[in-house]
Amino acid sequence: MDLVRVTEAAAIAASAWIGTGQKEEADRAATEAMRDRLNRIDFAARVVIGEGQKDKSYGLYWGEVVGARREEVLHGSTSIYEICVDPIEGTRPVVSSGPEALSVLGVASFAEAILPSQTFYSLKLAYGPRIAKYSDIRVDAPLSEIVCQASKALGKSVDRMVVCILDRPRHAEYIQQLRRLGVRIKLIQDCDLSGAVATCLPDSGVDLLYGVGGTPESVLAACAMKCLGGNIQTQLADDEGRPRPGRIYMADDLVRGDCVFVATGITSGSLLRGIRFTERGAVTHSVFMRSRSGTIRWLRTEHGN
Ligand code: FBP
Repeated sequence: MDLVRVTEAAAIAASAWIGTGQKEEADRAATEAMRDRLNRIDFAARVVIGEGQKDKSYGLYWGEVVGARREEVLHGSTSIYEICVDPIEGTRPVVSSGPEALSVLGVASFAEAILPSQTFYSLKLAYGPRIAKYSDIRVDAPLSEIVCQASKALGKSVDRMVVCILDRPRHAEYIQQLRRLGVRIKLIQDCDLSGAVATCLPDSGVDLLYGVGGTPESVLAACAMKCLGGNIQTQLADDEGRPRPGRIYMADDLVRGDCVFVATGITSGSLLRGIRFTERGAVTHSVFMRSRSGTIRWLRTEHGN
């Protein structure tokens, strides 16, 4: 529950900035609320994915140590967790009243090689448990091959497949290819983390997430995919979003061993409802997942004023 309180606090703080057009202020409010809550938890954790390179941000940087026991880390008298945070996944949708924005965190042991990455962008391919079990799909294969293998694994014709992809100029060629293949395309404006997680939720209708997006979102998505039995493959890309030949990271490569994924909705989307305010106060919707037990807790919380 302590971790849920962290994403709830960040989401509530962010919600004050919905529709305001003020990205920096929204980010500052959510980050400060998240850090404040993290510092009240009886633990110490190092931020291994946090605010950094891309945004002008207000703390929770890579390397920052948080938690009520953070001082003890200096004396080597406590163990330290690794934590991956995004106070607002989808700053643009928050300040423009768009969908799918979340406050998110993951706790796990994260792969050193990719952290802290010099690379903001990655090519990613995410899919649910059936495709993970019945195909040996690879993110660096031609898109037509990926779609065909996924359709076989799902026992679904290609024209019924739904592929989620960020609507970005860098994806023009991919989108054309998908159109030629005749798949259904879910174009999203932001928040490919939700798009990745949606592939594991039967009601979402999304079969694959493909395309270039943020590497931090890949690592956070990997926490969720491990809990849900799906997978996300990640190949680092350059600053223009062109995939760089090299290693392909599976969810298990990005996130080692047991992990926890927590998210609270800021604006409504495929994973969670956004914040609402009633006479009693804010109502939040969150999810808490753990990979070892496979437990998924969906929480609706009424916060007193
Ligand atoms: P932020 O809100 O953290 O900026 O991320 C939103 C997001 O849409 C991610 O979900 C996605 O991975 C990334 O931005 C895509 O980056 P870009 O907008 O540069 O294409």
